[in-house]
Amino acid sequence: MTRHLLSSADLSRQEVEAILTTAESMHDVQKRDVKKIPTLRGRTIINLFFEDSTRTRSSFEIAGKWMSADTINITGKGSSASKGESLRDTVRTIDAMGVDAFVIRHHASGACQQVAGWVDASVINAGDGTHEHPTQALLDAYTLRQRLGDLDGRHVVIVGDLTHSRVFRSNIITLRRLGARVTVVAPPTLMPSGIDSWSEADDFATSYDLDAVLAGAGTGGAGGGVDAVMMLRVQRERMSGGYFPTAREYTVCYGLTRERLASLVDANPDVVILHPGPMNRGLEITADAADAEQSVVLAQVSAGVAVRMAVLYHLLSGEDIAP
Ligand code: NCD
Repeated sequence: MTRHLLSSADLSRQEVEAILTTAESMHDVQKRDVKKIPTLRGRTIINLFFEDSTRTRSSFEIAGKWMSADTINITGKGSSASKGESLRDTVRTIDAMGVDAFVIRHHASGACQQVAGWVDASVINAGDGTHEHPTQALLDAYTLRQRLGDLDGRHVVIVGDLTHSRVFRSNIITLRRLGARVTVVAPPTLMPSGIDSWSEADDFATSYDLDAVLAGAGTGGAGGGVDAVMMLRVQRERMSGGYFPTAREYTVCYGLTRERLASLVDANPDVVILHPGPMNRGLEITADAADAEQSVVLAQVSAGVAVRMAVLYHLLSGEDIAP
């Protein structure tokens, strides 16, 4: 495995599987009364967050602390970045202190890649603009495997604001690495332009018609029953104009409503409902669906700690991923 985790594409299938296996042991630590292992004692991890975060930042911090690393949180607002210091000067300053890893969230796509070229420490991408969020994809895969077992041949439908979603960009890589078929659904205004040319393969399809996909019609090679549905947040903070006429219309056409959930469960009682959070309840997902038995939203959060422990372990412990 490389020194950094910048994109889901950095990880081969073997490496993804090794991280998910390590995460299972880390999940056991999470269930103990005393949640502390010495693995990263003496290591220093900087969480450098230029965008807001609840789950990702706290789970990286908890993951580091449970592994006995020293973890320090720096936010854009509380650092000299707010005095106009450049990203390069900020990270080189902290790197000069001798830290071991940066966990970075930044509003610019590609920021983590740049930082990796400027510092000696490892860099982990915790979300860069609309580009990628590789640890989210790993925790989603972990959660899906807990419910579904092997993901080979499984059909995952990803729905919503694809244009602004780094979660979807990382997920289509990781899920397909693990053998899953992915269909992505969005209104035409939120479908990334040229997406059909991203992949000629028959494990990837796009659609504007949520009901047709959920009914199992699908398109291309990704037809057939639905094993999991991942709802994405409508990212209004990244939108400059109107991408859909009204919130009501979005929900009617693309929301996971009570009716859609009922017909999904009818067709497949074991269907898995995911959402990376934070949720806009009532917009992309209704409360019934968010809190349904099939929803794994909190399991995803829980997996986030175990998976991030596993990622830190593989990047920082010096032990290579077993082939
Ligand atoms: C996602 C993110 O920040 O990209 N959230 C997360 O990390 N759990 C998705 C989102 O903000 O909608």
